[in-house]
Amino acid sequence: MSEQALDMDAVQHFAFKVVGDVTAQQMGPLSTVGDRLGLFTTLAASGPLTSADFATRAGINERYGREWLSAMACHGYITYDDATKRFRMTPEQAFVLANPESPLYLIGALVMAQPYWANIDLLAAAFQQGGGVPQERFGEHFWCGFERFSYTFFRNSLVQEWIPAMPAVEARLRDGGTVADVGCGNGQALIILAKAFPQSTFVGYDSYPAAIAAANKNAQAAGVSDRVRYEVCDVTQGIPGTYDLITTYDVVHDMPHPRPALGAIKAALNPGGTYFVLEFNFFGDLQQNIDHPLGIGAFGYSASTNYCMTQALAVGGDGTGTCMGEAKMRELAAEAGFTHFQRRDFPSNPFNIFYELRV
Ligand SMILES: C[S@@+](CC[C@H](N)C(=O)[O-])C[C@H]1O[C@@H](n2cnc3c(N)ncnc32)[C@H](O)[C@@H]1O
Repeated sequence: MSEQALDMDAVQHFAFKVVGDVTAQQMGPLSTVGDRLGLFTTLAASGPLTSADFATRAGINERYGREWLSAMACHGYITYDDATKRFRMTPEQAFVLANPESPLYLIGALVMAQPYWANIDLLAAAFQQGGGVPQERFGEHFWCGFERFSYTFFRNSLVQEWIPAMPAVEARLRDGGTVADVGCGNGQALIILAKAFPQSTFVGYDSYPAAIAAANKNAQAAGVSDRVRYEVCDVTQGIPGTYDLITTYDVVHDMPHPRPALGAIKAALNPGGTYFVLEFNFFGDLQQNIDHPLGIGAFGYSASTNYCMTQALAVGGDGTGTCMGEAKMRELAAEAGFTHFQRRDFPSNPFNIFYELRV
């Protein structure tokens, strides 16, 4: 392309978009340190502080504290008042970065990226040779980050909105029903349900042993381990028992082999039972994701390449990918023999789409 063909305004505009991305990458370690050392929560709890006061409160070196505060202020994660030379978090900043109970607490998602970099050689090799990066290469930081990310949805919506949207399911759980959460991860969803529905019993299945160990520990700590248990189980081999409600939260697109898994879920439903599905709010179509109203298309495909598709391909799976979309879910459900398929949207949660399935 000749130089004259270049629109230099467009080049500059694009170059600064890339600089923004470089900045976002560089901020990742700072957010992670901030999370690890409680820097966001310290600032949110304290009100306006000088860097020296902040360092003292946080128990860190002042020079590091000042550089961290400066970076965060320039990045818009915290707020700086030049007149007083003090830093603080607005309620909105704290809601997203310093309040683990808030529905938009995103620190878990921010700190999950560490293994993406650690796995970069494996990922590049998979691009060339096929295969993928196995699930166990992502480690504790990734899974605990994901747990904190999904917990916010469960904590704020599961009992308040999702279950009440299915009145027959809610009634069953009140009277004493049985629930299986497939791909339960670290188990937070069932702990929240168990507290809300004390007559019911709950079992979580996951093929990843580290998740099951964490989930059982969480249930014990929450005091619900008499009614909630978690077991290592690859559900493509079948699901022990039958249930009134089976759930998968952000699992179907991750499953290496979703077809036999959905077959097993259908077989494990009691008559009249419900299969409730949460997936990310993506389309199955690239152009629609490029034009996604929330601007999250690249988030979906990059999460997929870094983890979702890749860990499935690592074990010879389908590699469905994060941007599975409704049409694919309908296809899988029909193949498994579900005849009732209802999509549900909850305006309070634009990030996810939900499906209610019955046989
Ligand atoms: C993205 S995580 C979601 C975890 C949890 N539901 C949450 O929202 O926090 C997907 C989980 O599905 C599990 N999984 C994938 N395929 C599975 C299978 N065939 N049987 C059981 N669990 C499976 C993975 O081990 C992983 O823990």
